[in-house]
Amino acid sequence: MKEQILEIFKNTNDYISGQELCERFQVSRTAIWKVINQLKEEGYEIEAVRNRGYRLISCPDVLLSAEISSELKTRVWGQELHSHSTIDSTNTEVRRLAENGAKEGLLVIADEQTAGKGRRGRSWTSEPGENIYMSYLLRPDIDPSNASMITLVAALSCAQAICEVTGLPAQIKWPNDIVVNGHKVTGILTEMSTEMTSIQYVVVGIGINVNQKTFPEEIREVASSLSLELGQDVVRSRIIAAYGNFWEQNYDLFLKAGNLSGIRAIYERFLVNIDREVVVIDAGGNQEFISRGINDMGELLVEDADGTVQTVRAGEVSVRGIYGYV
Ligand code: BTN
Repeated sequence: MKEQILEIFKNTNDYISGQELCERFQVSRTAIWKVINQLKEEGYEIEAVRNRGYRLISCPDVLLSAEISSELKTRVWGQELHSHSTIDSTNTEVRRLAENGAKEGLLVIADEQTAGKGRRGRSWTSEPGENIYMSYLLRPDIDPSNASMITLVAALSCAQAICEVTGLPAQIKWPNDIVVNGHKVTGILTEMSTEMTSIQYVVVGIGINVNQKTFPEEIREVASSLSLELGQDVVRSRIIAAYGNFWEQNYDLFLKAGNLSGIRAIYERFLVNIDREVVVIDAGGNQEFISRGINDMGELLVEDADGTVQTVRAGEVSVRGIYGYV
């Protein structure tokens, strides 16, 4: 009956009343309601309007989910996977589910976001059919002051996944942008909910420009996509699965050490800013340094003209190359 109800929904844009479905299948309202709920759990978005009935709004990207799951070697990450064709923001969706008790590792992916969020309150353009928009839930038993390191773990996993799947020379622009040939291809937005002195949950949200061919005027200089850099399209599910596999290894090392000591060396191998002149921008103005890598807490080590090395913290400063974005 489920498949038949789905077929009916797919063949119309109109509402179908519960009564009509009951009569058609000779079953109770409760039976119909159960099928609708099953479909919702599988990722179908179904609108229910009093006195009008049900209407199918969108179908899940079932193929994409199956492809991801078949390549995942994780214990926790992505073992529960929700795939949406369209959603406001995957970060917002994971937050909603976290508030309702969802478990660590829950992964939400979407083909399109209508209210994608970027850092510093900016929006993240999220066109359908081209890119990766994904967010996942963590419930780490760590001090909230250490949570900013999670973003660096995510950045490393992203750079590794892109390199492995595409062979592109992906690099990390500290702390967590991924660049290819000097252009930003990935953004990471980590959000946290705390209770007194402990973390309730963390949401890691990742946007990867995979097959996008054109960019809005205001970001054209800085942004690019994997396909533009590679000269051919890339299968999104392969990047997502590779990301998850790297993430789980890196995150285990982070949790074991309580800091980045276990992945610092490899992070630095991907770091585009290493031994380069950088401009550190904070409320006090701009200052030039040579960047020398990171410490175990993920802070950037910067050396001034006298050879004195200081640390700068992500979130407190912004770092640019002296000639531009990198
Ligand atoms: C940045 O500004 O660089 C961070 C952008 C993060 C975008 C991703 S897309 C998936 C997830 N959902 C959101 O609303 N934002 C993040």
